[in-house]
Amino acid sequence: MTTRREVHDLLKRGETVSGEEIGEELDVSRAAVWKHVEALREQGYEILSTGEGYLLEEGTSEMNEIELRERLDTATLGKEIHVEDAVSSTNDRAKRLAEDGAPEGTVVVAKRQGAGKGRVGKDWISPEGGLYLSIVLRPRMDPTEAPKMTLLAGLAVAETVRDLGLDARIKWSNDVVIENRKVSGVLTEMAAEENAVGYVVLGVGINANLEPDDLPEELRGDSAFLREELGRDVDLRDLAVSLLENLEHRYDQFRDDGFKPVRNAWRELSETIGREVLIETQREEFIGHAVGLSRDGALIVELPDGGLKKVTGGLCRHVESY
Ligand code: BTN
Repeated sequence: MTTRREVHDLLKRGETVSGEEIGEELDVSRAAVWKHVEALREQGYEILSTGEGYLLEEGTSEMNEIELRERLDTATLGKEIHVEDAVSSTNDRAKRLAEDGAPEGTVVVAKRQGAGKGRVGKDWISPEGGLYLSIVLRPRMDPTEAPKMTLLAGLAVAETVRDLGLDARIKWSNDVVIENRKVSGVLTEMAAEENAVGYVVLGVGINANLEPDDLPEELRGDSAFLREELGRDVDLRDLAVSLLENLEHRYDQFRDDGFKPVRNAWRELSETIGREVLIETQREEFIGHAVGLSRDGALIVELPDGGLKKVTGGLCRHVESY
């Protein structure tokens, strides 16, 4: 536990504690205690200094490691947490940490991103108010199984939004939509050796407390926002924690029971299966009828001539009947 968290924990007891007492308990100098108290104040905690010591008067509404840890009830996800005001991309940050040996479950959250990345080379516009979170995982699996991780992540995000009471569904492969408008996207990046995954970074962006005006005009019509749907702001800390808990549940289930339960749950929340779709990959573009999800996580599309095609990447648009 970091000393700052320990200072916060002592203050949280609700009584005035002197710098000397805190210093003795944590084995640090009074000057160090003062520095941590100042840092906590900067994070929005209201801490009164009296002649007798420090008194925590009010908590903070800020996103920080202390607040996430207090809420989080996971075994692996969130083992290490990095909260940043701004980064270029939480996925890039998480990948660097993973390359440097960060443990499975390392989480990076940022209040905003300067160069957020979307799927297929698109940008992910990331102003303050959205949730931008990436997780490092080290699943024991063959790289060809990576699509399963992407579907698993999309499912966990949809479940998180549904836990708020909203009718979120999944548009293949892992866009989370509310009435066909996108509220969240997942970007999966992987480092693989010949037949083993080194690490997977799952990056999730959720349009939480954003206004339509926060996004470029061309995205507004197709986007949904939690604040607008709920008629209130969402606590981004609760949202992050709920996401990590849902993700851990599905990740554990995948490890213990295989892909089947995840696949079944995904199919139940799928907005794509049963729809006419236009698929665009780097190699081709075609129209068909989405009929299922294969055991290896590919979308099965029935072509106009009755043939079946498995799709594992690219873009999928829902279209009216062809
Ligand atoms: C998509 O295009 O649907 C995927 C969007 C993924 C955005 C998230 S925000 C957090 C993480 N960091 C990034 O740069 N991208 C992902």
